[in-house]
Amino acid sequence: MEGKFIVIEGLDGSGKTTQVRLLAEALRAMGRQVAETAEPTASTTGGLIRDALCGFTPRTGAEIAALFMADRVAHNVNPVWGIGRMLAQGKDVVCDRYYYSSLAYQGSVTDPEWVYELNLHCPEIRRPDLCVFLDMDYAGCCRRMERDRGFREIYENEEALNAVRRKYFDVFRRLEGRDRIRVVDAGRPPEEVARDVLAAVRELLEGPASPVFSPSPGILD
Ligand code: TYD
Repeated sequence: MEGKFIVIEGLDGSGKTTQVRLLAEALRAMGRQVAETAEPTASTTGGLIRDALCGFTPRTGAEIAALFMADRVAHNVNPVWGIGRMLAQGKDVVCDRYYYSSLAYQGSVTDPEWVYELNLHCPEIRRPDLCVFLDMDYAGCCRRMERDRGFREIYENEEALNAVRRKYFDVFRRLEGRDRIRVVDAGRPPEEVARDVLAAVRELLEGPASPVFSPSPGILD
């Protein structure tokens, strides 16, 4: 049986890396096989993307969107490390970022309709079974980024991150009924966040596949 494809999304500094690890551990403890992965990938295209994100090679928003799209297609179809292969092997795939990031980040800096088209109408970019968004405000993200890393990338300033957070919620409203999306308050201790992430995954594994988008309080006001 195919595994489940679960995406963890959130702003930079929202704790995705920790939650991907904790979710993978929890699924393994349930006796499931799990592959952990992330975008941008470790491919050559992923390298081009990282050079652009840190400002080493300046590129337009559209160039970056196209690079992410190419990276995502490879991530789906690569015969060795592709998501399709892992799922076919019966593994659950837990992925740190996916097309929701492109819709939110690149959709803020280039034509969003084109970014939707690129990602949602590409036959080789599969739809996840579940996306969990780790919701955190800018102050919380900053505290975590400075504590963990001491540097920032091109999108990591207050105005940009607030805009991206709003954009994520626009994206989720737009995808309501299409994608299964759950929002988790990430401004809490990691174990509490992990419990809610796991609850969303259990609901996927056990419950009926009803695509519901649950907004976090206040964000839609
Ligand atoms: P990532 O390595 O996940 O960094 P972080 O741990 O800080 O979240 O992602 C690097 C950056 O890539 C991040 O700022 C978001 C950006 N990004 C996009 O702009 N579009 C995309 O499609 C993806 C996957 C990432």
